[in-house]
Amino acid sequence: METRKLNLLISSRKLNPLIFLVLVIFLVLLFIRSSVRLNKIQPTSHLFKHPKTQNHETQIPHHPLDPLTIEEINQVRSILLSYTPNSFPSIHSLVLQEPKKSQVLKWKKGDPLPPRKATVITYSAGRSNILTVDLGSNRVTRLETKTGSGYPTLTADDIEFVLRVPFESPEFNRSISERGVPLSDVICGPLAPGWFGPKEEGQRLVKVQCFSSEGTANFFMRPIEGLALLVDLDTKKVINIYDNGRGIPIPKAENTDYTYAAQNKPPESLPLNPVYMTQPDGPSFQVEDGHMVKWANWEFHLKPDPRAGLVISRARVRDSETGELRSVMYKGFLSELFVPYMDPSESWYFKTYLDAGEYGFGLQAFPLDPFNECPPYAHYMDAAFTASDGRPYVRENMACVFERNAGDVIWRHSETLIAGKKILETRPKVTLVVRMAATVGNYDYILDWEFQTDGLIRIKVGLSGMMLVRGTPYKNLNQVPDSEDLHGTLVSDNVIGVIHDHFITFYLDMDVDGSNNSFVQFNLQKEDTTPGESPRRSYMKVKRNVAKTEKDAQIKFKLYDPSEYHVINPSERSSIGNPTGYKVVPGGTAASLLDLSDPPQIRAAFTNNQIWVTQYNRDEEWAGGLFVYQGKGEDTLAVWSERNRPIENRDIVLWYTLGFHHVPCQEDFPIMPIVSSSFDLKPVNFFERNPTLRAKPNTEKDLPTC
Ligand SMILES: *[C@@H]1O[C@H](CO)[C@@H](O)[C@H](O)[C@H]1NC(C)=O
Ligand SMILES: *[C@@H]1O[C@H](CO)[C@@H](O)[C@H](O)[C@H]1NC(C)=O
Repeated sequence: METRKLNLLISSRKLNPLIFLVLVIFLVLLFIRSSVRLNKIQPTSHLFKHPKTQNHETQIPHHPLDPLTIEEINQVRSILLSYTPNSFPSIHSLVLQEPKKSQVLKWKKGDPLPPRKATVITYSAGRSNILTVDLGSNRVTRLETKTGSGYPTLTADDIEFVLRVPFESPEFNRSISERGVPLSDVICGPLAPGWFGPKEEGQRLVKVQCFSSEGTANFFMRPIEGLALLVDLDTKKVINIYDNGRGIPIPKAENTDYTYAAQNKPPESLPLNPVYMTQPDGPSFQVEDGHMVKWANWEFHLKPDPRAGLVISRARVRDSETGELRSVMYKGFLSELFVPYMDPSESWYFKTYLDAGEYGFGLQAFPLDPFNECPPYAHYMDAAFTASDGRPYVRENMACVFERNAGDVIWRHSETLIAGKKILETRPKVTLVVRMAATVGNYDYILDWEFQTDGLIRIKVGLSGMMLVRGTPYKNLNQVPDSEDLHGTLVSDNVIGVIHDHFITFYLDMDVDGSNNSFVQFNLQKEDTTPGESPRRSYMKVKRNVAKTEKDAQIKFKLYDPSEYHVINPSERSSIGNPTGYKVVPGGTAASLLDLSDPPQIRAAFTNNQIWVTQYNRDEEWAGGLFVYQGKGEDTLAVWSERNRPIENRDIVLWYTLGFHHVPCQEDFPIMPIVSSSFDLKPVNFFERNPTLRAKPNTEKDLPTC
């Protein structure tokens, strides 16, 4: 932009040659600087401002759903310190205990906040406790000791311990040295062991696998195959060392590094000029009081969460005719992930991760890069999380909110049939995106909630990062007797990308025009005509089935038996009598092929169907259960749904699972280009007509000239 101004300056004035020369040099420098900027990703604050108004020490809650502030976390910690003065337990989770839904729905801006409470999960001496801490009365008001299987989410301390524990074992050191790997290049990672029967019960365990980072940042591509440790996280002892991969070479470092600095030649393609979205008049959205997002016809509350990543609450959309704010969704978030690998051998069978409950999807979030993964003009939101000693810390820029014009159209029509008249009416599509990115070990997930002016919400998950790979003696497919026995694809010398799945299950507490909703399946069926009725033999007809109980709403997708899935409010109707509703529109997805009685599938039974609908219950939020780590699957969505509670005209929760089968290929090496999939929540008979009808088209003067 500055360059353009200077160009104008030059052309519009008669300059003496010296000033001209100075200007040319300046321009060249400016050009070099901006090219350098593009490569080195340096923030250029004069061009892009990040409104960083959050001052964490003084932040106060404004909304009943606002997350606990730094000050509040500190207060909870001191309440807990006086509650357990002698043995402060390890804090595995410390979050706002949301007030009852009825209280939140009644609350209006300006009202006093409902009492602020925290839910704390502590762990000590083999016991998990769930506490309620009341910040108003400075007291612990409830203490429940967990029964049943499972442990809380790993803490950063647990993980940190796992990174160094192997080196306390002389046997481990010896094995590493015998493989010729410098000990200083070994990096180990904590692998949740899953649950595979009584042998592993009663101890909080972790499996540890190690990699060589010699010569590359991408140690994930250099597994030390067959060497694994079983570690007790409580006694801090190595229980077992498995060492049976001596014959398997550690794959080479060459061509594995993905850092820009490590690339030694430019790409074999034509160069790309920078492409930017710019917002010359500033954003059209506001983030009020830290967490209330207001944009176009949407309003919602956004908060970071250590387990779910992001929570969207009270999503409401303005009626296009009356201007009234109407409820769509009370609460939506990523509830659990399931990532099973398809290699049943000793060092691989247990790799069946439930990432949100085992590691914390929000805890693994990384600050977003304002030049490459959110636009520079985005609003960035920080999170206040709690360490295992109960102290708060800030995770900066863990969420971003931005408007996007991806060059798409929200509707169009051209018309030539009217005599003497040509019509072209077309409207640009601008959306609001809420984004976060998490790196859970080797994998990276980008999660988007995208809001559209036509009332649609798109929930999208993108997968990138490193494959989890297996070392192998094979260097070429011609050495492999049967490639089907590889459990994956040979993606490089001595490297197999192991076949696996990703499932991401979303909790969607739909409140369409109020809390009491019904789930209706509109089944599309082939109907045959009667002889003589029509030249047609068959057509398609829609049959409407209202789900009475939870089992009626256990949905498996079938291409040749399709349905639409609506959440409707049976008591609210449009002016012409249709009940108002939102439908869930599936995108590309996948179903788990594991046996229903396979331990990983029992723990991840929430993936047995792609859609479920349950009766609202405050305590049923985590699809794999609250205590997922080594859990046996006693507390999953599948167990709740089997209760078969009534769901017609009730407060209901919709659950949707996005799935990916991943058969690796060479392009996924050494880092995977992003693969994404999404689903939509789309209004059906919710608005009287197309709610974007009166949207203004752009004209030349609305756009910056380039
Ligand atoms: C193993 O090697 C590491 C790194 O060289 C060293 O710090 C550690 O003391 C060794 N452990 C034992 C038990 O010798
Ligand atoms: C919703 O339905 C439940 C169960 O039928 C009923 O008790 C409750 O009063 C209803 N709520 C509203 C707001 O209509």
